[in-house]
Amino acid sequence: MKKVDLGHAKIAVHLAGDKGPILALAHGFPLDHSMWKYQIEYFSTRTRVVAFDLRGFGQSTGGSGNCTMADYADDCAAALTALGFEKPVIFCGLSMGGYVAWQFWKRHRQMLAGLILCDTRAAADTEEVARGRRRMAFDVLARGSHFVADAMLPRLMAPQTFEQFPDRVEMLRRVMAETSPEAISTAQRAMASRIDVTRWLPQIDIPTLAICGVEDEISRVDEMETFTEQMPMANLSVISSAGHMAPFENPAAVNEAIEKFLETLVD
Ligand code: MLT
Repeated sequence: MKKVDLGHAKIAVHLAGDKGPILALAHGFPLDHSMWKYQIEYFSTRTRVVAFDLRGFGQSTGGSGNCTMADYADDCAAALTALGFEKPVIFCGLSMGGYVAWQFWKRHRQMLAGLILCDTRAAADTEEVARGRRRMAFDVLARGSHFVADAMLPRLMAPQTFEQFPDRVEMLRRVMAETSPEAISTAQRAMASRIDVTRWLPQIDIPTLAICGVEDEISRVDEMETFTEQMPMANLSVISSAGHMAPFENPAAVNEAIEKFLETLVD
């Protein structure tokens, strides 16, 4: 992992591949770059992959105190610049990484060639959901990250993933349990106060691929359909045999969808 020192945080970045378009990957909550394992393996032969550990997650530092989705997006932009990437990137985010992707578009659109939005939402939280996040943000500091892993894991993947790929389930559990409680607390509060970006959708006129696991319970297919219909250049790909972690649960189908999307982009 390369570490980019931004002053307020050292951002760890996994770099792979040396030719083709730049694929920047932002992970979901409360994970790190390793959830993109199958995309890093596949796309490093045909793209330059830049997989971030967002502030406080994985091997990145920072991530305590207050922070916003915009701050995570600014970290990614600053890290890309510091690493010398000059061409526009295809920014791909899953769930929380998708919330970061909206902000990346808003704040750094000159750096974007395309967007990939995996299992994510445009709407803000209801007050009830936001309250639950604030409760977890408080509890995790006392109870530790294991408690978050136990609470979240059952909703993250489709039932068949639990049956067929226990090794993948264990890998996610380990990553969550090893995530710093402060980073979890900060990110939950940041997500609870994130804005509804629905009004931005008609203005997002860059090529966009949306991806949703057919059994995603957190970012449901019908909700992703509704928001992609409002984006002038977006298409939705629904992934079979997958829940909220579609790229990790059915990587073959997700990689095929991403590869087809990349082929449509002019260099
Ligand atoms: C994620 O996968 O990043 C989370 O489910 C996001 C969320 O809690 O909204």
